[in-house]
Amino acid sequence: MISSAELKKKYLSFFEKKGHKRMPSASLLPENDPSVLFTTAGMHPLVPYLLGEPHPLGKRLCNFQKCIRTQDIDEVGDSWHLSFFEMLGNWSLGDYFKEEAITMSFEFLTKELKVPLERFSVTCFAGDKDAPRDEETARIWEKLGVAKNRIHFLPKKDNWWGPAGQTGPCGPDTEMFYHAKDIQEKSTEEFVKLSSTGPFCEVWNDVLMQYNKNENGRFEELKQKNVDTGMGVERMVATLNGADNAYACDTLAPILDKVISMSSSGTAKTNRDARIITDHIRAAVMILGDDKGVVPSNVDHGYILRRFIRRSIRHARMIGISGEFCTEIAKVAIDVMADSYPELRRNSKRIFEELKKEEEKFSVALENGTRQLEKELQLLEKSHQKILEGKSAFDLFQSFGFPLEITMEMCKEKGFDVDTIGFNALMEGHQALSRKGAEQKFKGGLADHSEASTKLHTATHLLNQALRVVVDPSIHQLGSNITPERLRFDFNWDQKLTDEQIKKIEEWVNGVIKAEADVSFEIMPLGEAKKIGAQGVFEERYELEVKVYTVSKGKTVYSREICGGPHVKNTKELGTFKIIKQEAVAAGVRRIKAIVE
Ligand code: ALA
Repeated sequence: MISSAELKKKYLSFFEKKGHKRMPSASLLPENDPSVLFTTAGMHPLVPYLLGEPHPLGKRLCNFQKCIRTQDIDEVGDSWHLSFFEMLGNWSLGDYFKEEAITMSFEFLTKELKVPLERFSVTCFAGDKDAPRDEETARIWEKLGVAKNRIHFLPKKDNWWGPAGQTGPCGPDTEMFYHAKDIQEKSTEEFVKLSSTGPFCEVWNDVLMQYNKNENGRFEELKQKNVDTGMGVERMVATLNGADNAYACDTLAPILDKVISMSSSGTAKTNRDARIITDHIRAAVMILGDDKGVVPSNVDHGYILRRFIRRSIRHARMIGISGEFCTEIAKVAIDVMADSYPELRRNSKRIFEELKKEEEKFSVALENGTRQLEKELQLLEKSHQKILEGKSAFDLFQSFGFPLEITMEMCKEKGFDVDTIGFNALMEGHQALSRKGAEQKFKGGLADHSEASTKLHTATHLLNQALRVVVDPSIHQLGSNITPERLRFDFNWDQKLTDEQIKKIEEWVNGVIKAEADVSFEIMPLGEAKKIGAQGVFEERYELEVKVYTVSKGKTVYSREICGGPHVKNTKELGTFKIIKQEAVAAGVRRIKAIVE
């Protein structure tokens, strides 16, 4: 039996031996990125570097990354789909390409993990108007020893990865499948059928990242050809241990066992409700336990978190778990995850408190709301209607806190649909997320290297410094979000800034712009960056190399900050800086929105 920890160790030391530098897992909540709520893949924090910014650790990287994907939430409960999962990855930033990447994947799978070739198939991109059929990749697999009838060509919907948002780096990929049982597919058609129903599980994906999808939807060749790979830890561990579902992995099995022990007798390990609770509570624990963790709310990250918790409560009632249970399950989740993510122990108080609060809030509402919905469905039944009005779904949300998917799920179980368009229209006024909002918020984000956003990146550094100079030296950044239209900056301060302060901040920033200061970067160890007073979120690993941007003129240093970039070369490119709004976002947190024109 192999454990998740052993797999991670094997993988990282294998790639370190091949010249890769190991990075820590980034936060689940991406910094500086308005386009996506959660980190969905290991490549996500690397977007600027995939587009050509030099990475402080070099051109070969590897890590394991905590990821959340909510687009598959309806599939969770089947054998392989998870909302939270761990991804192992190795990257080439304009260094090696196809042949070397595939050869390394093959060597790791067959030599280190001893995956037998009789249980292994791969897929390659079949080609279309955007990129040619990837015969080269197929030939490489064949040369390595994969039988021709186990190499399948599939179209873009299967064999193309990215961009993570609407724009950004992407490319054809080649995917690796492990067969949980001894099955020999007879054709590509049969392969597709078997891989979508269970016994063939995709365990690793090598993306040959050579395009950038631009705002017009066109695929431009990237300056550098990258490799982005992702291996699902839970899937790989489960299949290596001969199981046919991800819940056999050692970071899920103990949680599932706990759920089952609390349910009414006879609940099977394959029970969908039990699996959903297992997956969702673990995801909630990972979000609450992140150092940038959020709490349940009705918008953005907080809403997704709320959905995970409320959905767990509903499914718990379906398998006879009554009363409070979330914190009991969370304890097990922390136990199995904390060795890899020690922040969970640091933040365990928040995890328990918030789970408890949310559970108390929703438990009573769930009963009352269910009664209300049942009444409405009976009325619809009588009038031979099959669709619940958007307004009813919205009332359930407002009065009982039912996230839309809970209402939809309950309706579906009884053979009804929900008017989601009507619901969303009402919800928009409410500023909450639509059902698929999480992944549809993409608008550029880290991949947005437009001139307008680049200017605002630099302006953000200047604003950050100006606040310390003008208002108080203890001020630091709590959050930043940049679109081509404006910057948004959150910081620790509990008072409204006076008109005088706003004016002085603008003057300070515009002074640096007028001074025509140079913007340059240097790569140095984190400890060093801290010593020279660079602003930034300091992770714990001091030996980590970071990129430090400095805005200076001759000997005068205006700002120094740890940041991935991109930035303008000289502040004279910025125009005039103007604050357009200030507001309070939470106790002790203020927000400024500003533009350059
Ligand atoms: N980014 C690629 C994926 O998530 C590796 O599959």
